[in-house]
Amino acid sequence: MDERKKSGRYVRLIAQLEELLPETEDPIARMASVAAVLHHKMDHYFWTGFYLLRGDRLVAGPYQGPLACQELQKNKGVCWAAVLNRAPVVVPDVHAFPGHIACDARSKSEITLPVFDRAGHVQAVMDVDSDKPDAFSEADRINLEKIVTLIYAAPRSVYL
Ligand code: SME
Repeated sequence: MDERKKSGRYVRLIAQLEELLPETEDPIARMASVAAVLHHKMDHYFWTGFYLLRGDRLVAGPYQGPLACQELQKNKGVCWAAVLNRAPVVVPDVHAFPGHIACDARSKSEITLPVFDRAGHVQAVMDVDSDKPDAFSEADRINLEKIVTLIYAAPRSVYL
């Protein structure tokens, strides 16, 4: 997908998610909606979902795509890197990332982003894998950073 088309699609999907997500305050339900909406609208997404930070464990949360690892070894791989850095990690070639955890051999590139609650604590990681190399650009990073802020945003009733 070219960059202009990709950016335009993100604008429309963000508008849709901003409308949809505040129906509930539950972050798991919101993550499920984000995964479902994005996975079926973005051609370069192969696996789309969340890992939840439970104490010092990252366990699978809502996702779309092929079966994935249920729990990720601590302090290893691309998801843990987003937690430890408190920042997105873009990996153009997963085989070149030391410690990358391969849940599915078809994944070739990946982006992970920390999901913060309203107090600024990391509660989860958003993870998207592509079966194409170097699939995630600045447009993906910038727009996914906006999308993850919606998971713990105030529910609609607060604005009424
Ligand atoms: N590749 C990730 C593991 C999760 S799967 O890609 C769904 C990692 O290295 O943390």
